[in-house]
Amino acid sequence: MKYDQIQEAVKYIRTKTSYKPQYGIILGTGLGNLTDAIDVYDEIPYKDIPHFPVSTVQSHKGKLVFGAIAGKPIVAMAGRFHYYEGYSMKQVTFPVRVLKFLGVQRLFISNAAGSTNPDFLPGDIVFVKDHINFQPENPLRGINDERLGPRFPDMLKTYDRTLIEQAKKIATEANIRFHEGVYFALQGPNLETPAEYNFIHRVGGDLVGMSTVPEVIVARHSGMTVFVASIVSNQCYPIESITETTIEEVIGVARVAEPKLRLIVKRLVMEVAV
Ligand code: HPA
Repeated sequence: MKYDQIQEAVKYIRTKTSYKPQYGIILGTGLGNLTDAIDVYDEIPYKDIPHFPVSTVQSHKGKLVFGAIAGKPIVAMAGRFHYYEGYSMKQVTFPVRVLKFLGVQRLFISNAAGSTNPDFLPGDIVFVKDHINFQPENPLRGINDERLGPRFPDMLKTYDRTLIEQAKKIATEANIRFHEGVYFALQGPNLETPAEYNFIHRVGGDLVGMSTVPEVIVARHSGMTVFVASIVSNQCYPIESITETTIEEVIGVARVAEPKLRLIVKRLVMEVAV
């Protein structure tokens, strides 16, 4: 059934656009303006696509944007789905399956995240090199459909090293402050207690957030290469640095830092072959 649902969604999209994207981009909280980097050809609202969940979070737009960055064919998800909104992990990751069948081979994911590394400051860009998954309900749970990927996907090379190295080079040349870090995923929607931030820091998490990891798991299951860049929205370690965090602040910091990420993503798409 699930495979059929993916095909139905793809079939519908094919009636609306003949565009064949090879790169996919998922736009995170406050990062919707990344679409400014795209020469847009077609847009399809999520609500029109069979089996697509509909976005509920403020600051998310809810459409697929087809177009080109530096002449390369891309599709962007303007608006993503979070587990805390009430969707199942299968729903959260359904669009990633659809992107795969539209032809996407490289998936670029952005997000805004808290920092549990004292060197990572609000507004900094972090290239995610690994993750720790503390979210419930794995998106691959249940009978495995071999047409979508293997039963036990390996996670050793989850975050593509070539893309990270290229992104570091681009950031260095553009004088953009960056780090590499480990993303610790929780379900939210509440932010963490000081003791929880301390825990995340101690077990090796540099960033904490409520998204991304389900999409990464499904992208790797389906054989795409993955690149994740986070914008630090708030500092969560050490304890004295923690201030109360609101969604408005998270969005605000992400918006201000977004042009840096736009430059990096644009040049990455320009410079890497599929
Ligand atoms: N915790 C969890 N998710 C987040 C945070 C945070 O501090 N900041 C932005 N997303």
